[in-house]
Amino acid sequence: MKTTTTRAFQCVGILAVGALLLTACGSSDGGGAGQAAAAGTFEGRGPITFVAGKDTTGAIQPVLDRWNELHPKEKVTFIQLPTDADAQRQQMIQNAETKSDAYTVLSLDVVWTSEFAAHQWIDKLPEKQFPLDRMLKPVVETAKYRDGLYAAPASSDGGMLYYRTDLLKKAGIGRPPATWAELKADCAKVRKLPEAKGMSCYAGQFQKYEGLTVNFAEAVNSAGGVVTDADGRPDVDTAAAKEGLDFLVGSVKDGTIPKEGITYLEEDGRQAFQSGKLVFHRNWPYVHSLAGKSDIKGKYAVAPLPGLSGPGSSSLGGHNLALSSFAGNKATALDFMKFFSSEENTATLLKEASLAPPYASLYDDPALVEQYPYLPVLKESILNAVPRPRVVQYGDVTAAIQQEAYAALTGSKSSAQALKDLQEALRKSTGQ
Ligand code: GLC
Repeated sequence: MKTTTTRAFQCVGILAVGALLLTACGSSDGGGAGQAAAAGTFEGRGPITFVAGKDTTGAIQPVLDRWNELHPKEKVTFIQLPTDADAQRQQMIQNAETKSDAYTVLSLDVVWTSEFAAHQWIDKLPEKQFPLDRMLKPVVETAKYRDGLYAAPASSDGGMLYYRTDLLKKAGIGRPPATWAELKADCAKVRKLPEAKGMSCYAGQFQKYEGLTVNFAEAVNSAGGVVTDADGRPDVDTAAAKEGLDFLVGSVKDGTIPKEGITYLEEDGRQAFQSGKLVFHRNWPYVHSLAGKSDIKGKYAVAPLPGLSGPGSSSLGGHNLALSSFAGNKATALDFMKFFSSEENTATLLKEASLAPPYASLYDDPALVEQYPYLPVLKESILNAVPRPRVVQYGDVTAAIQQEAYAALTGSKSSAQALKDLQEALRKSTGQ
């Protein structure tokens, strides 16, 4: 288990990587692609677009409809991209590279802020116009680059362990597993029940995409390892990191993770869990609301992610609203970003789609906690989450992690070799 102190040091380290890289790559706040958009000018009113990954919750269009009713001359159109985070990033980069004005407000994954800001694909925002002091601090950090605000925190994300309360209870287990060993032992007991026939134990996101980066980092962190060390250098060729990766590799080998689990993105895992195929499932908070409308309604709960010798730690996820530098109608866009990221709207998204709000007070509101008992687990998950490297070259970093983690999971490389090669690749892509 990682202590809070270690995590705090690690975050500093990760920021340090970012700082070094930025110096190394010589990006500056002036010049480059972003010249088209003079910082600080938000002019023009009229139609805009909101660009995000496919809305699997169904809760986003109603928000846009509310905006459109209030602003008939400044309507927002929803452009939905694929669910896969890497595909979203590629399309957003393509839009920026062609300086297209097709995308106005981008729902930017928290790990892309540095890259998009450094390339001046997104505008610096007027910080004072957003109530950042009421938001969770780690969430606000994800929207910053070189002390400037480049996105409005809209929804956070922390990984949680979904588990079948009904089956654990029947198997005589009175608490969710806190360690990987407990997860395996609990699953073995559950699988002896007639009602668990054909069920698999566990799945997260192990397809070769951003979700794998998340799940790999969580395994490493939850075994006490790091991807980058306290000084911001890649430090993944370690015994602790190997224990983390070995948990995943071993789980594929011994069937804890079913074979098809290696093809899962978030939605595949959610569907498997909801249709009763999994006892345990790692996923984001949005699943809570959808599973509550499925066949397993009332039969599941959430717990912190398990780790090697105690509770593990999540990667910090989420999406912030950024303004494309190449868009028109920026005055409308800024107002829309304030509307969408307001406490009122994020509370609605919490209630309707269990999306994690950036506002601290919503997690402690007794009425909300009573109605949504997962909120304290979610808050802990977010506050203790480990950010993925905040680097301009995030695309290279995540590609290297995906490649090596996938090679280990599919057995084409040993864990030791994969970590050795990953260390080398990260050293190269971060210039360390
Ligand atoms: C979720 C998270 C995001 C992460 C992605 C990986 O959408 O909010 O941060 O990168 O999952 O699949």
